[in-house]
Amino acid sequence: MKASAPGKLNVTLACSSPDERGYHPLRTVFMAVGLREEVEVIPADRWSLQTTMVDSAGNEMPLPAELSALAPQENLAVRAASALLQKAGIRGAAQLRITKRVPVAGGMAGGSADAAAALVATAATFAIDQDYSDLARQLGADVPFALAGNVALGTGYGDRLQPIGQAAARHWVFASAAGQGLSTPTVFRRFDMMGQPHTPPWALPGTAAGPLEEQLASALADPDPRPLGQLMFNDLQPAALAERPALAQVIEVARDSGALGAQVSGSGPTVVALAENGEQARKIGSALESLPQVGRVVVITGPAGGARIERE
Ligand code: C5P
Repeated sequence: MKASAPGKLNVTLACSSPDERGYHPLRTVFMAVGLREEVEVIPADRWSLQTTMVDSAGNEMPLPAELSALAPQENLAVRAASALLQKAGIRGAAQLRITKRVPVAGGMAGGSADAAAALVATAATFAIDQDYSDLARQLGADVPFALAGNVALGTGYGDRLQPIGQAAARHWVFASAAGQGLSTPTVFRRFDMMGQPHTPPWALPGTAAGPLEEQLASALADPDPRPLGQLMFNDLQPAALAERPALAQVIEVARDSGALGAQVSGSGPTVVALAENGEQARKIGSALESLPQVGRVVVITGPAGGARIERE
């Protein structure tokens, strides 16, 4: 059985200081995009993993060092599949074949998408019909959204979701960084050191929704993409820029090429830009491709559906 799950961006991301567990309460609007991870689950005697990274045209790309260094048991998709079998009381194992399209350690939740697709494919392969939403949350804060897809307001650590039904299709440009990704905990630690820069007047996590959130709901539904561009923000951006100063130029070039909004995606280092239409997205994409600090550029639309079985 094979399942797929989408990568995401955070259209808005308000972040508070860490709680007693060291985790950061978030208030974020997620949007899933049409860049999908695929996980095939084949029952086997022991756990093993085969990972292939492909570009948008389906051409194979080298696997980043952060991934090839991992033992199968450390991979989030394998952990998801084995935890689900354990929860269902099934003694078994599987080979997982992952096809990655989402940039690794890029702030697009590719690893969480692998875990979500692994849960769906494992449940189908082993005929498990138990609810696994709590398990998803335990695996990682972004896993519930990779299961759900589309557009949602995330509270808690970004793992408590309220779907936002009405959202027009948008053209997005993602520029992943040349070289290494950024580690999520490192960016959160830098955020703490910087004294929690927050973009007012957005509602902080744990507080009631402010009037700007209503504005955001209409901007998401609006066929005109400009209002959405004006409302995008990411509280983690100053921390990601402090870790990777060269990203500031990527944001600037995206804006100069006509992006309606451009910011670091999640904890970075991928930069995401909103384009007026497909043609402008390609133009922004070529401008970003010429920058030395940019690795790969992906032009994609969103929203996209959540984790699902893929039939060949
Ligand atoms: O949930 P996930 O495993 O993806 O998070 C990775 C790390 O990022 C956590 O161990 C934590 O250090 C940090 N994090 C956080 N606050 C969040 C989400 C993640 O501090 N809301």
